[in-house]
Amino acid sequence: MTGRTPIVAGNWKMNGLKASKGEIEAIISGLGTGPAPRAEALICPPATLVAGFAEIASSSALAIGAQDCHARVSGAHTGDISAQMLADAGASSIIVGHSERRADHGESNETVRAKAAAVLGERLTAIICVGETEAERKGGKTLEVVAGQLRGSLPEGANAANTVIAYEPVWAIGTGLTPTTGDVGEVHDMIRRELENLAGGEAAGMRILYGGSVKPSNAAELMAIDNVDGALVGGASLKADDFLAILSVYR
Ligand code: PGA
Repeated sequence: MTGRTPIVAGNWKMNGLKASKGEIEAIISGLGTGPAPRAEALICPPATLVAGFAEIASSSALAIGAQDCHARVSGAHTGDISAQMLADAGASSIIVGHSERRADHGESNETVRAKAAAVLGERLTAIICVGETEAERKGGKTLEVVAGQLRGSLPEGANAANTVIAYEPVWAIGTGLTPTTGDVGEVHDMIRRELENLAGGEAAGMRILYGGSVKPSNAAELMAIDNVDGALVGGASLKADDFLAILSVYR
C-alpha cells in the first residue's frame, strides 16, 4: 500500500457532443454499482461540455476536468480559455502539456509550467504530461528527455494534493503500442526520484499516471507496476463500458 489514491482519468480530446452525456450518465451509474472503486474517476471532455457534464456529475463519484488552459486569468487572448473559467464551469482538474499540445501548438516546458501554475492558482489539480517520442526512445534518451520535461514543467508550489504527473510515451498514444512493464516501471521510478529532488517530501504522495493505449485488456498489468498510480486514458475513455472496465482494476 502506498497511501496514494489512484486516479483513472479519461481524456476525450476533440471528441464529444452534448449527446455524449449518455456516456457520462452510464459512468456515474456504473460507479454506483458494486463495490466502490479504490480510485478517483475523472473525465476531461472538450471545454464545450465541461459545465454541462459537471452539472450532471455533481454529487456523484465522477469528477469532471479539462484538457488545457491559458496561463493568464483573462485578457485579449481570442479563442483561449483560462483556468479560472474552467474552475467556474466546474472542472476539478486540468491536463497541461499533453504531447498533442506540445506538438500541435508548439508548447514549450516554460509554457506548460506557466499553465500548470495557473491551474494551481485556481486551487485545481494540474495533470502534467511528459513523454518521449519514438526517435528519443530509440536513441536511448527516454530518461533524460522525461526528466528534463519534468524539471521544466513543474511549477512552484506543486504538491501531492495539487499535482499529478502523467507519463505518456508519444509513440504509445493512440497506436495500440505500449512499452514493456519493465520500461514503464523504469520511467515511473525515475519520475518518483526526480520529484523527490524537485518537491522534497511531497514527492511520495504525488500520483504518477501511465497513459498511452491503455485499454481494458492491458490495464491490470500496467496498473500493477510499482509507482503507477492510475491511468490517463484516451480512446478507451470514450465508451463508458471500457472506462468502467479499466476502473474495475481498482475494485
Ligand atoms: P490513448 O491516448 O489512450 O488513445 O492512447 C492517451 C492520451 O493521449 O492521453
